[in-house]
Amino acid sequence: MVKRSPTFRLRRLARKGAAAAALCAALAAGLAAPAWAQDGAKLFADNCAGCHGAKGKGDGPAAAALSPGPGDFVSALAGKSDDWIFKAIKGGGPAVGKSAGMPPFGSALNDAEIKALTAYVKQLASPQ
Ligand code: HEC
Repeated sequence: MVKRSPTFRLRRLARKGAAAAALCAALAAGLAAPAWAQDGAKLFADNCAGCHGAKGKGDGPAAAALSPGPGDFVSALAGKSDDWIFKAIKGGGPAVGKSAGMPPFGSALNDAEIKALTAYVKQLASPQ
């Protein structure tokens, strides 16, 4: 049997350690971007802008066909809580006493995505 020197074993351990550190860093990077911080802007562009307009002004290409049409988030969301906005997106207009012209997204999007959208919509609703 070949006897391995203690230095050899140490070097092997060090290499393992480096691999573990790299893995930890990768995991930490994944955790640093929690689900709720997903790209709300992209989700909005993909799912909402057609009616609400790219900036949430209620002027998307599909808005003209809706009655009532989507309003400007700046006024429509004044004083509204995160919970209210989340509910409106998840359950659609009727979930918050608004029209069914606002469709429910509870089956198309998960809660983390709806949270990301809630944050993004609030950003659109705060006048710059
Ligand atoms: C088919 C068109 C349509 C799509 C797509 C749509 N909305 Fe709406 N949304 C509306 C309409 C119309 C209203 C206003 C309903 C009313 O005033 O009764 C509304 C209302 C809302 C409201 C309540 C505040 C307000 O402006 O009245 C929020 C919040 C909202 N939408 C967010 C979203 C988000 C986020 C998405 C994408 C995930 C989305 N909407 C997609 C049509 C749409």
